[in-house]
Amino acid sequence: MKASLEHMLWHPVVALADLQATPVAVTLLGEPLVLWRDGEGQAHAWTDRCPHRGARLSLGQVVETDCGGRHLACPYHGWQFAPGGQCVLVPARPDWTPPPGHAAGIHDAQEAHGLLWVRLVAPDAGAPLPDELTRPPPFEPGSLPGWRSVVCGPYAVATSAPRLVENFLDMSHFGFVHSGWLGDAAHAQVEAGHIEETATGVRASNCRAWQPQGYAGADGGQFVAYDYAVLGPYAATLQKNSVAPDGPRNAIALFINPVHDEACTVWFVMSTVNDPSTDESLRAFQDAVFAQDRPVVESQTPVRLPIHKGSSVDTDVPPEVHGPSDRLSAAYRRCLVRWGVTVGVC
Ligand code: FES
Ligand SMILES: [Fe+2]
Repeated sequence: MKASLEHMLWHPVVALADLQATPVAVTLLGEPLVLWRDGEGQAHAWTDRCPHRGARLSLGQVVETDCGGRHLACPYHGWQFAPGGQCVLVPARPDWTPPPGHAAGIHDAQEAHGLLWVRLVAPDAGAPLPDELTRPPPFEPGSLPGWRSVVCGPYAVATSAPRLVENFLDMSHFGFVHSGWLGDAAHAQVEAGHIEETATGVRASNCRAWQPQGYAGADGGQFVAYDYAVLGPYAATLQKNSVAPDGPRNAIALFINPVHDEACTVWFVMSTVNDPSTDESLRAFQDAVFAQDRPVVESQTPVRLPIHKGSSVDTDVPPEVHGPSDRLSAAYRRCLVRWGVTVGVC
């Protein structure tokens, strides 16, 4: 496997609530993976291919062992693989001990923010990563006392991951795509706020837009302020603080699995404090907002984010032009160039 930057980063692949007793098949950066949990509750992400005759391990099952553990069993000849990836049982010759090379392809996996994160290749000394990119992106509100987190998604989307990050960072579509929800076309002006490009991403504070109901319990529309952070090529957060000291505060993280260049799977982790909404209503709200975004983002051409001057996968597509409210999006594009991102861009 070629080890580009994207292969060394951590990406979300499944909500922990969706990883139960049966193996789950996902694709990350074009690589089919099987996800499963062992008897200790540890989650694993393996190449979804049996080393025997190449069948999909995700079509198999998680089986209980005599000593209370669990193995992943292939659907074809029933070979069983222990949590370390080693084949430990060949049912056609149960007395035979498979040699060490009879093993599944394993990848690093860890849990964070209610999701399972996977990296396909560990960074090596020859390709050092900024320290912050060697672990899943931080999302502090999700772990603060008193805050409640709800995982929304997955949403499978027919666009590139960078197009979705840019949509998340963009306030100037609120009045059009989310009219009556997050904005109003009669109050479409936005203020781009203070934008700072850091070694590891972008931070923007006091980004302002008008919202029909800025906060839970608000009486009419008002300007609201968001703080944004880009935490990696395919991860960003926003925080929206109440005008009242004990009022509701919301933070949303956008975490994306870049399935391949032109498809992705998205989760939003919503964290709130002092917000009376139920988990179900927070999910329903996010589902409705994303249903408004989907047709527009899936309509954008080229599908990949055009960050390189004069380059496009489709040479008939003219370059994109920018307005004064696109400063955060421009900073994100510069970040992608600086990081050397190749997946989802052109
Ligand atoms: S292909 Fe998996 S056991 Fe034969
Ligand atoms: Fe939107």
